Amino acid sequence: MTIFAVAMQKGGVGKTTTTLSLGVELARMGRRALLVDIDPQGNLTQALGCDPTQITNSVYEVLLNPTHGPGFATLATSYGVDLVPATLTLAGAELTLAGRFGRELLLRTALQEVRRDYDDILIDSPPSLGVFTINALTAADVALVPLQAHIFALKAMPQLEETIGIVRQLNPSLHIGGIIITMSDRRTSVNQVVEEEARQQYGDLVFKTVIPFNVKLVEAPAFGAPIVSYAPDSSGAKAYRDLAQEVAARYE
Ligand SMILES: Nc1ncnc2c1ncn2[C@@H]1O[C@H](COP(=O)(O)OP(=O)(O)OP(=O)(O)O)[C@@H](O)[C@H]1O
Ligand SMILES: [Mg+2]
Repeated sequence: MTIFAVAMQKGGVGKTTTTLSLGVELARMGRRALLVDIDPQGNLTQALGCDPTQITNSVYEVLLNPTHGPGFATLATSYGVDLVPATLTLAGAELTLAGRFGRELLLRTALQEVRRDYDDILIDSPPSLGVFTINALTAADVALVPLQAHIFALKAMPQLEETIGIVRQLNPSLHIGGIIITMSDRRTSVNQVVEEEARQQYGDLVFKTVIPFNVKLVEAPAFGAPIVSYAPDSSGAKAYRDLAQEVAARYE
């Protein structure tokens, strides 16, 4: 089994969309998938149709009681994936955890308890480099990196690689397992250039599947449904289906 941290220290590049759409597709392939929301924005939680006001136990409580495992906060969703949700209470955890010894290892400790229960665990991390992103990367076997097909996208890679280098002191086997080009419009030459440069620099690390810019992916979260339910025939849904095949093949 594999624990994936979907991470990139840049906002709005497709981390949440990828965690959700990829996770649901992996589940549709018959794999047991757990999604973990460790972003105080709670976007993943809401995109799965969960009402934050109805949540009693979230990832926050999991971080406070890591040896209990995440089970007590895990919700079964209607889309085949389990979810450890996040609510705004998580924003306060940054301070609560600040002085705590081993605060970087809390999620890792919790997820070790359920490793055997899942084929894939995907963690959606926030854009900032704080205690939550560090917890996600410390818990993970590999980082999956969404790279927005945008002119300055590749400039963010050295920073992420530096972070991964630091986290390796706690989690020596952590590495970038794959780069996913997102929001691409291959008709624009800038997008083509970014894709070519990414493939030149990172070779096979870049998945063959490119996620197109697709407005259905913007709309789906407003309906609290993953793309495969909201618009199963859309180009976005098809791309994430292909990506799931690639990910499953890479992490048999
Ligand atoms: N392939 C796509 N085509 C069109 N819109 C997309 C695509 N992927 C994501 N989006 C939209 O772009 C916005 C940012 O995406 P998303 O929330 O997945 O990014 P993020 O990296 O998780 O952001 P944050 O850093 O704030 O957590 C959202 O409105 C989302 O619906
Ligand atoms: Mg997000």
